[in-house]
Amino acid sequence: MARVTIERLERLDQETLEKLIGIYMRGYEGMREYGGEGVGYAKRYLRWCWEKAKDGFFIAKVGDEIAGFIVCDDDWYSKYEGRTVGAIHEFVVDRRFQGHGIGHRLMEKCLEYLKKHNDRIELWVGEKNENAMKFYEEYGFRRVGQSGIWVRMVKDVRKEDTGPEKMKEVV
Ligand SMILES: CC(C)(COP(=O)(O)OP(=O)(O)OC[C@H]1O[C@@H](n2cnc3c(N)ncnc32)[C@H](O)[C@@H]1OP(=O)(O)O)[C@@H](O)C(=O)NCCC(=O)NCCS
Repeated sequence: MARVTIERLERLDQETLEKLIGIYMRGYEGMREYGGEGVGYAKRYLRWCWEKAKDGFFIAKVGDEIAGFIVCDDDWYSKYEGRTVGAIHEFVVDRRFQGHGIGHRLMEKCLEYLKKHNDRIELWVGEKNENAMKFYEEYGFRRVGQSGIWVRMVKDVRKEDTGPEKMKEVV
């Protein structure tokens, strides 16, 4: 596989939006109930993500091709916490590139970004999406509640805290 790089998305033009929608649709294949109701939803949702969290919108590239992205918001009012926390609004790697460590690279970038301003991070994940929940648990996210089909997970962040828990255990 070509070199993987992580960078901040500079602009969401039409061509990029279409690429991200493709990644989103393929990423959630087989889990449609967690990926919205289709392309129209994806378009609106990704535009919302961009407007809400431009500085924390990171993409992974394999060579010149976008392979995945993570949307990190350092200014999210959580009604469950009753205060502003960091939030991960979206995290997806194209199905073709899953399982090659790209998700880990994106998550590390996200934590490095959010820990500058936040001491807690919140995200929501589909209740049957065990792969993703295990992935998040490796980083110290805990399952703290549920609303409908969505499980709420939170993680407390410390300045030095970016790697998966299991990596920290072996160093
Ligand atoms: C969750 C997700 C972003 C992880 O990205 P990724 O690039 O596949 O992640 P990585 O390769 O860095 O690591 C994934 C871990 O899960 C395993 N894994 C997850 N999906 C896998 C797949 N399709 N194939 C192989 N292994 C997979 C890997 O073995 C790895 O385990 P490890 O941490 O013990 O090494 C990606 O699987 C995805 O886009 N899923 C669909 C969308 C989704 O569920 N997003 C989260 C919603 S809240």
